Amino acid sequence: MWAAPGRVNIIGEHTDYNGGYALPIALPHTVTCAADTTADGLARVTSRQRPDERIEIPVAGLADAKMPAWARYPFGVVHEYLRRGHSISGVTLALDGAVPVGAGLSSSAALECAVAVALRDLFALPVTDAELIDIARTAENNYVGVPTGTLDQSASILCTAGHALFLDFGADQHAQVPFDLAAAGLELLVVDTNTPHRLADGGYGDRRAECDQAATMLGVASLSDITDLAALDKLDDPVLRRRARHIVTENDRALTVVDMLRRAGDPRDIGPVLIAGHASLRDDFEISTPQLDAAVEVALTAGAYGARMVGGGFGGSIIAITDTDRTRLAVDAIENRFRASGFAAPRTFVAVPSAGARRMT
Ligand code: GLA
Repeated sequence: MWAAPGRVNIIGEHTDYNGGYALPIALPHTVTCAADTTADGLARVTSRQRPDERIEIPVAGLADAKMPAWARYPFGVVHEYLRRGHSISGVTLALDGAVPVGAGLSSSAALECAVAVALRDLFALPVTDAELIDIARTAENNYVGVPTGTLDQSASILCTAGHALFLDFGADQHAQVPFDLAAAGLELLVVDTNTPHRLADGGYGDRRAECDQAATMLGVASLSDITDLAALDKLDDPVLRRRARHIVTENDRALTVVDMLRRAGDPRDIGPVLIAGHASLRDDFEISTPQLDAAVEVALTAGAYGARMVGGGFGGSIIAITDTDRTRLAVDAIENRFRASGFAAPRTFVAVPSAGARRMT
């Protein structure tokens, strides 16, 4: 039995496919994968969340087999191992997901990574962590069909308890940064606005294309090569200029937060940086929603030091840094506002930086 976690990103959104920086933590919520080898040439998958389905496909036919959408995540990983020349005779996978789905908390990456580590260990496949991340990401890009970067899979594989993970996508490097809110009397509140986002719906891919277009027009390999905002004046299109401005300022915010945490100052000080990050995602990247904006605004009014939407956008979750003894106040205030606005009831929990993908038994 293997487990891999979902994530929330403290700062650094949409920077991964732009060669920039991010700072996720792993959630305590995981997807588990009980797995066993078989010699019958079949790949089988069941899920506790799909009790009536059992999908069985010959390993040799995975490349173009038809299957329900959810099965493409686990089988995409099997297929990607095969495509890279690794040998998988047959396998049975039994999944159980506890990461909220469609909440911007990387349930997809958790699933992919649980299967990826299970297959690596079961078949003693010689793959590094970097390859695991790439296998899981490629499965999502090519088999599921969502053009994500590697933020979520990197977090799910590499995060450690008690730390945020500093990711430098341009240099392909990472580092563990101690992240202990509890010691400062603080909590990281996660509010799932219960407005499912679907990255496959196109908004995510549009943003990615806009960033690529802006980089091409500016003559740089990636927008993260730019640190001086004045360089963006060369972009005539105001939309592309806003998209690029988000990436440039978000990278700066990520580096600022990492620096603050490394200096081990008061974590309350990162609050204003998170608030600025939300404004940038809302106004420049334009991927927020009325629910996300309301949750952030109410959390701040209720005394949070910082709050922002997280993940791919167009729905999903926010985070807020609150005094431990005021978290309940913030939750009540957000629930009241959602009720009054006729929004779906939000789901809330407190996140602690948890362990990355691992073998359980
Ligand atoms: C989604 C994608 C990631 C990343 C984030 C935004 O979670 O899967 O690759 O781009 O959105 O930071």
